[in-house]
Amino acid sequence: MRLVSSILILILVGFVFCLRSIDKDALRAIAGDDPSKVAYFWHITDPHVDLEYKVGSRAICEDVVCCRSSDGNYTADQTAGKYGFIKDGESNCDIPLATFKTGLDFIKSYPVKPEFVFYGGDTPCHVDWDYSEEYNLKYMNTIHDSMRDILGKEMIVLSAIGNHDAAPVDQFDAGPKYSWYTEPFAAQMSFWLPLDVAESITIAGHYNYLVRPGFRALVLNTQYADVLNFYNYKNSSESDPGALIRTTSLWLKQAEAANERVVILAHIPPQATDPWNFALIALCKRYSKTIIGQLYGHTHHDQFHVARDSEGAYSVAYTSPSMTTWSNQHPSVRLFKMDKTTFELLDHVTFYGNVTEANIKGNMTYRMEYSAKEAYGLSDMSPQSWERVGLDFLNNGTAINNYIKYANAFGDADSPKTCGGKVTKECIKELYCDVLNFSKEGFDKCKRDKQ
Ligand SMILES: *[C@@H]1O[C@H](CO)[C@@H](O)[C@H](O)[C@H]1NC(C)=O
Ligand SMILES: *[C@@H]1O[C@H](CO)[C@@H](O)[C@H](O)[C@H]1NC(C)=O
Ligand SMILES: *[C@@H]1O[C@H](CO)[C@@H](O)[C@H](O)[C@H]1NC(C)=O
Ligand SMILES: *[C@@H]1O[C@H](CO)[C@@H](O)[C@H](O)[C@H]1NC(C)=O
Ligand SMILES: *[C@@H]1O[C@H](CO)[C@@H](O)[C@H](O)[C@H]1NC(C)=O
Ligand SMILES: *[C@@H]1O[C@H](CO)[C@@H](O)[C@H](O)[C@H]1NC(C)=O
Repeated sequence: MRLVSSILILILVGFVFCLRSIDKDALRAIAGDDPSKVAYFWHITDPHVDLEYKVGSRAICEDVVCCRSSDGNYTADQTAGKYGFIKDGESNCDIPLATFKTGLDFIKSYPVKPEFVFYGGDTPCHVDWDYSEEYNLKYMNTIHDSMRDILGKEMIVLSAIGNHDAAPVDQFDAGPKYSWYTEPFAAQMSFWLPLDVAESITIAGHYNYLVRPGFRALVLNTQYADVLNFYNYKNSSESDPGALIRTTSLWLKQAEAANERVVILAHIPPQATDPWNFALIALCKRYSKTIIGQLYGHTHHDQFHVARDSEGAYSVAYTSPSMTTWSNQHPSVRLFKMDKTTFELLDHVTFYGNVTEANIKGNMTYRMEYSAKEAYGLSDMSPQSWERVGLDFLNNGTAINNYIKYANAFGDADSPKTCGGKVTKECIKELYCDVLNFSKEGFDKCKRDKQ
């Protein structure tokens, strides 16, 4: 009896402790969800972890990456803290591993059981000149070891390759040339994935995974859509390097035939380049009923893009903000909500950790930044609803103000993505054209057109 009540007390204490570390807004975001109807998945991307990050070092410097060296004079408020450094417009620091782990701890302790955690890539810090097979593999293994240790086997990680995961940066070729990366990467992924799925990664870095019957994740290696990847130009008669287009088409066709819904998970969002971009637009149109949404990172900013034509909007790409503070934002993670039966997206909720506060307190607290549905007054997450948000930008009301407010996860008010603090007509137009187009051509044309 005594044992039973001790156990009960322990469970209760554990529960209260777990809730205490999660803020009330965050709980409010899930309180209304019917667990029999709602499923969840996480997106965590672009940590750019710096394994040479030095607490106490100089945080404001002329180098590409600061918070690594104590050379020169600096004051107390220019010093690298335990969890990072952020100061309007002045921070060039990537994050220590400890900060990435706080994001994982938050995901682990959050009271929902996710279908998967999408890790969007770009593991190493921005010291691109130091990249080598050995260097990048150390980062790849370190980050996946952390995810294994903290999230465990029951939280399935679906991990994508980013342009900073390659050595040299941006360079990636399909097949044996990059087996130095794909094989150890596939070995890490085999902790979570069936062996045949993990093995398929070694072909070109793409894989697809049946999350549950009727719902499939396509994880794509968008290095073949990176204009800076020179391997993409090596064979002029190959218009589809890495078979990115052929693979995506085939998997979408198979998913449609099997009556499955699909989420596309990758690193580089649309509007980056052609011919992948044109192919993506055509595939999104053709399979608009199959694809529930697309998740990307890469830009470090919080963005979305709507694919549309004369018949209306047909797909949405969600670009989640980064974990790194390097572009002046607080580390962020995002929770997606999904209908358990139709797999239709219901909302996304973004959380940020305040690095400045964490350095003072000695531990990191993640708070809810916003819910997409609440912030933009969406009735649902359909492409049509997101198109309306983009069209509303021109009214200079809540939609554009919230988009600017959240663009850098409350980090830097002065970046171009936040209109540099001045919400001019030109800046509004630029963001309007950006969110309402999947293609660079359409974006350019939109900017030229008079409204
Ligand atoms: C640091 O500050 C001291 C005192 O102001 C000055 O003498 C010294 O030259 C400075 N060093 C550097 C590297 O700027
Ligand atoms: C170049 O691409 C074409 C089309 O896919 C292929 O048939 C050919 O074998 C490739 N050439 C080389 C040298 O890889
Ligand atoms: C891009 O914008 C143009 C002009 O508004 C539009 O005609 C075109 O359909 C858009 N394309 C996509 C894929 O969003
Ligand atoms: C972060 O924390 C600092 C220090 O407590 C505070 O001044 C700042 O307003 C906070 N920023 C956000 C966005 O929470
Ligand atoms: C965070 O740090 C503060 C101050 O050191 C401490 O009071 C609090 O218990 C810590 N919280 C957790 C969850 O560790
Ligand atoms: C848009 O609204 C903001 C305030 O919300 C204002 O500062 C800005 O000048 C407005 N821009 C235009 C072009 O009217």
